[in-house]
Amino acid sequence: MSHHLFLALLLTMGGTGVLLAQPSEPLDLGQAIYRQHCMECHGSTGKGDGAKAPFLSPRPGNLISAATSAKTDHELLRTIAQGKPRTSMPAWQDVLPAEDQQAVLQYIRSLVRFTRPLTPPPPGP
Ligand code: HEC
Repeated sequence: MSHHLFLALLLTMGGTGVLLAQPSEPLDLGQAIYRQHCMECHGSTGKGDGAKAPFLSPRPGNLISAATSAKTDHELLRTIAQGKPRTSMPAWQDVLPAEDQQAVLQYIRSLVRFTRPLTPPPPGP
């Protein structure tokens, strides 16, 4: 890993640490679950760029995309519980208790809020 990449990674993780320093137990739980089970595919910031991602077809979803954000908790919890047919997205219902699935969804939602200011503004008229 190049020196710069490592530094960038450190900074990214530092930023996340600041966010999660606020008292929020479900988010801490969600983050722990995400890092253990989801990050290898969906990436540390949810962009779908985890270590395994280049080897998967289709690629893991970008969890902070507008398309995913627009989905309801109900829809996303269903995908988390049951997995996604014809993709590598596993079903988690027999692995994680329902409250853990909720917590990891809240964590994904928090990644979106955290990242939104970096999204370029819509093109002007
Ligand atoms: C082995 C790789 C892999 C792992 C591990 C994985 N996912 Fe996925 N995930 C995928 C793929 C592939 C998709 C489908 C992408 C697509 O729809 O094109 C997906 C889709 C999703 C979606 C649906 C997004 C949408 O817009 O509908 C959610 C939510 C999701 N994953 C959450 C999780 C969570 C939470 C975990 C950990 C508990 C997890 N994933 C672990 C590969 C993975």
